[in-house]
Amino acid sequence: MITILGIESSCDDTSAAVIRDEILLSNIMAGQEVHSRYGGVIPELASRAHQQNIVPVVHSALQSAGVRPGEIDAIAFTRGPGLLGSLLVGVSFAKGLAISLGKPLVDVNHLQGHLLSHFIKDPLKKSGHPSFPFLALLVSGGHTQIVRVDDYLNFSIIGQTIDDAVGEAFDKCAKLLGLGYPGGPVVDRLAKSGNKKAFRFSKPVVKGLDYSFSGVKTSLLYFLRDRIKEDPAFIEKNINDICASFQQTLIDILMAKLILAVKETGINEIGLGGGVSANSALRERVVSESLARGWKYYLPEFKFTTDNAAMIAITGYYKFKKGYTASLDSVPLSRVLDNF
Ligand code: KG4
Ligand code: ZN
Repeated sequence: MITILGIESSCDDTSAAVIRDEILLSNIMAGQEVHSRYGGVIPELASRAHQQNIVPVVHSALQSAGVRPGEIDAIAFTRGPGLLGSLLVGVSFAKGLAISLGKPLVDVNHLQGHLLSHFIKDPLKKSGHPSFPFLALLVSGGHTQIVRVDDYLNFSIIGQTIDDAVGEAFDKCAKLLGLGYPGGPVVDRLAKSGNKKAFRFSKPVVKGLDYSFSGVKTSLLYFLRDRIKEDPAFIEKNINDICASFQQTLIDILMAKLILAVKETGINEIGLGGGVSANSALRERVVSESLARGWKYYLPEFKFTTDNAAMIAITGYYKFKKGYTASLDSVPLSRVLDNF
């Protein structure tokens, strides 16, 4: 029996979770309201909020799991990628706790956590998990990647964005429409009652399996500027159609490269991950394309789409089982190297 405490603090969610073998015992999150009024995450405010939240969040993760600190076998923490000031809070806290309990540390790549969130065993979860090898479409506020996953600890990025992440395009859309931050969930909701064919936005031409989202963001900006010139109330009158059409464009871009990746690799098991995988239209599209093309698909549960420590704990579990531990001089990485 292996019990892992996971700690995640890479961006604006402070989270702690306990996993025993692959079974989730608790997953506590504290989000940060403070950023919504600024239309994006303010790094310094995020670090401060992590400082406030980390002790109560870890305490309640252990308490709600019914696990005493002494029963933990190892402490897994997010080493990167993320905001340096945010990561420092989680990394330093994990080190202090590890020293005081005399337990080993396991450093975790946040992106690997998203990939492996499918393997968390939750007593309430009914769906299965992908088998190796599978292709992961990792879509978040910081990343957009297609990853070939050959084993728990063996994966390679076969395509990724050359500029912005798809989550940034959702957030930018919401910002231009005056919908607040984070924008993805609002755009998703408003798009439900809009016409996805109402407007067209230019799609990027990028080689291979790579993505680009900066052009489509600019295309929305110019589109709105021109239409508002003709009719100052254009946004209010068309908000649902704008959201639906822009969202559709983003999903078309994501799916075109995923289809190509399946063709090139011959792998037809697909796992979705990251914050944008909560998007209802993207989930529907993955289901419909999978049914049409004979793919096996795995959609993460909503609570594991955005940043959470359960995914860090499960990754820590697989690493610890293989004998990986981190030393006390391990430093956070705002960018992650290929070999981590
Ligand atoms: O994985 P995540 O929580 O944090 C990062 O690692 O970046 O992803 C956050 C991103 C934000 O851009 C947010 O707008 C987006 O996920 N997001 C969504 C939805 N829910 C969250 N985007 C589209 N539709 C959603 N329902
Ligand atoms: Zn993330």
